[in-house]
Amino acid sequence: MDIHVINHPLIQHKLTLMRKKETSSNDFRKLLKEITLLMGYEITRDLAMEDIEIETPLEKMVGKRVAGKKVGIVPILRAGFGMVEGLTELMPSARIGVIGLYRDPVTAKPVEYYCKLPGVEGRSFILIDPMLATGGSAIAAIDMMKAKGAKNIKFMCLVAAPEGVAEVNKHHPDVPIYTAALDRQLNEKKYILPGLGDAGDRIFGTK
Ligand code: PRP
Ligand code: URA
Repeated sequence: MDIHVINHPLIQHKLTLMRKKETSSNDFRKLLKEITLLMGYEITRDLAMEDIEIETPLEKMVGKRVAGKKVGIVPILRAGFGMVEGLTELMPSARIGVIGLYRDPVTAKPVEYYCKLPGVEGRSFILIDPMLATGGSAIAAIDMMKAKGAKNIKFMCLVAAPEGVAEVNKHHPDVPIYTAALDRQLNEKKYILPGLGDAGDRIFGTK
């Protein structure tokens, strides 16, 4: 299984708070933003850099800056929306796309309803969604992005199930998966165990 588990102590501590059933929507949202920012630091580690000549108050020097097009951040609605702010705080000039998908409550299959991306040429993308369960939503989202020409895609989630990781690896071996936790399994309703419940409902305070 090809997956990067980011097990920094602060991320793990915050994730445990998010998992607790008594955590409020307000705290859940704040923690999700904080974890996303911390994970974003790790996931952007390999961004290309270039030299730039600058002048400090004392002398000229050659500094470094991130090269190339601004990164594209693409949340899968709804729950992925809760991860946007953590990444834009880290990369204020990132471009944002949106993919609308929901899991049919009976079949657990993804239903597509929207896709809008910034220009794909030469741009690297971070696709975000807190939960990777069966993998159906992530696979459909990556299919939609690739159909529009996106090539360099990373997928970042909070909690992944082994079943979903295997499916995404199989359909999109070129897309690395980053998660804060790899959980045990799916239940009969395709929810992640132990998981954190329905991420969308917990972020938006629905249900
Ligand atoms: C959840 C979650 C993922 C998807 C994961 O969204 O945010 O998008 O399920 O499940 P999968 O890997 O089996 O496809 P949901 O469809 O419940 O929609 P929501 O974000 O609007 O709540
Ligand atoms: N979607 C969620 O929000 N949680 C799960 O456990 C599975 C899919």
